[in-house]
Amino acid sequence: MVVSKWIKTAVIAAGLSSMVIAVVAGGSETKGKFFYKKDCKTCHAKGGAGGEVTPLTKTQAQWKAYFQAGKHNKGKEDLSKYLTPDKIQDVQTFLTAHASDSPQPETCGG
Ligand code: HEC
Repeated sequence: MVVSKWIKTAVIAAGLSSMVIAVVAGGSETKGKFFYKKDCKTCHAKGGAGGEVTPLTKTQAQWKAYFQAGKHNKGKEDLSKYLTPDKIQDVQTFLTAHASDSPQPETCGG
């Protein structure tokens, strides 16, 4: 039937648009990993100036709180000193996805 076909299309369209919004709001894990390696690991590899920091350093809740506060280096500066807000969002997504209590705990490749 024409009507049911229309409804199906509308449901699919609604589903797709909410998916797109979720991706934007949640940031990109792949990009986050890239930015983390490029812009954070310079100081946060083993033996680096800021000490080793990996996704495993914190739990998901701790990463959430950390990025909500947006402070870095013991609260002395803003995280935005290093990354633009959209990149920060990506890094947060990456770190949280592999946090110590996440389903896929992971360091960031050495
Ligand atoms: C120029 C070097 C430098 C860069 C780049 C850097 N950090 Fe840091 N970071 C530090 C220092 C120094 C500390 C403080 C270490 C300590 O507690 O002794 C720190 C501390 C931290 C901590 C521990 C908690 C805190 O804030 O004290 C986290 C988490 C962290 N950094 C995340 C990041 C992330 C995410 C990025 C990339 C957006 C980043 N850092 C980039 C130097 C850096």
